[in-house]
Amino acid sequence: MKKLLLIGIIALMIFSMGTSAQTKNQKKGILLVTFGTSYPEARKVFDNIEAAVETNWPDIDVFWAYTSGFIRKKLAKQGIPIDSPSEALAKMGEAGYTHIAAQSLHIIPGAEFHDVVHTVIGFSRIQKRGGKTTMGRPLVSNHEDLQRMARFFTQQLPVLDDEAVVLMGHGTHHDANIYYPGFQYYLNDLSDRHYVATVEGYPSLDNVIKQLKKQHIKKVTLTPFMSVAGDHAQNDMAGEEKESWKSQLETEGFDVDVVMKGLAEYDEVVKIWIDHLKGAFDEL
Ligand code: CO
Repeated sequence: MKKLLLIGIIALMIFSMGTSAQTKNQKKGILLVTFGTSYPEARKVFDNIEAAVETNWPDIDVFWAYTSGFIRKKLAKQGIPIDSPSEALAKMGEAGYTHIAAQSLHIIPGAEFHDVVHTVIGFSRIQKRGGKTTMGRPLVSNHEDLQRMARFFTQQLPVLDDEAVVLMGHGTHHDANIYYPGFQYYLNDLSDRHYVATVEGYPSLDNVIKQLKKQHIKKVTLTPFMSVAGDHAQNDMAGEEKESWKSQLETEGFDVDVVMKGLAEYDEVVKIWIDHLKGAFDEL
């Protein structure tokens, strides 16, 4: 009987050694998830993010996924295949990655971000036992993020008395659009001449033009509040057509300057995404 018990204990020890060896066999990976862009020059900007990730996690493999089906189809036609988040996660799982930190490179926690959250939750459920997938927050999702971004823009693009800066945000039908007027409040804490307006949400350019007139602003600097200076920045913001923000502001009598730089081109902004990824990575 004693012998049997001893065998049992030994068996249990071997079994537990086996499981602890398994935890040592973790294979960690990072998945960066962006809306995507069809602009080749804008796509190069993603290299800046990848370089920052590689500096912070030199031994970890980095993968990419685009949430925009439209952009993925467009790029596929040009012979550039890009994975959706679920495709990328499935491939990583197949390749033996047991612990994955996904980082949203979206700006606000809107529809795109929540879709990825659902994909990550779904993937976690079918992941091999002992595996784990975590998800990092988008650029601005809490008080500290908004403060950091307001500080960044007011310092990066300072203005004289009769000048203003207008950031072009995307805007959304999703409830998270509230982050844009919310961000305006943070900007106002530091400056009364830095504005955010959106292409598809609230506030619109018209809302901001009213403020610019009240303040007798003469010169406006336009710049994207989007990860890359892609289609919206090139056309809707700075295009020559009369509907572009540049043309509308010029028609209203303002001098217009354009800073054609996406958020991912600024190291200080990339740092915010990296900090969020650190949170997700540490949870693995
Ligand atoms: Co759009």
